[in-house]
Amino acid sequence: MWRPRLDFGLVVWFGMILLVAAKPAFPEGDVIDATAAPINEKYNVDIKKIFATTCGLCHGAYGTKQGDRGGGPKLAGTKKSTEQVVEQIKNGKSGYMPAFKTALKEEQIQALAEYIKALPAN
Ligand code: HEC
Repeated sequence: MWRPRLDFGLVVWFGMILLVAAKPAFPEGDVIDATAAPINEKYNVDIKKIFATTCGLCHGAYGTKQGDRGGGPKLAGTKKSTEQVVEQIKNGKSGYMPAFKTALKEEQIQALAEYIKALPAN
């Protein structure tokens, strides 16, 4: 009778590959990149870079999660309109979020707002 010879090393390798494939370290990564790509091109910006340096402290995982620190909410699925998001970024909210109208360029703010609105709600 034919019996498969179990190569332990191969099994371990396969197991590791399956684990890595099934459990990406940052599952939202692809969604974030796919959402940002057309907006990056349209405005000639790097959403992830702007987000990481100016928003990431308070808003988690590029807007897809609640922030660890700073108390910012998850931005994906916001009920605010694109215009209201632009206003929030420009003027902030006293006691909660700083204003970014001088730190960021107009097109960076517009790009961030479009990106936030384009993120899938869940
Ligand atoms: C110092 C922390 C902090 C930083 C930095 C920050 N935020 Fe916020 N943000 C907050 C907090 C806190 C709120 C919730 C305010 C409230 O309760 O109304 C908020 C709310 C928002 C909202 C409104 C969400 C909603 O649905 O009402 C948007 C949009 C937003 N932030 C975008 C940004 C963007 C884009 C950046 C980077 C340019 C940024 N924030 C940087 C703390 C921060």
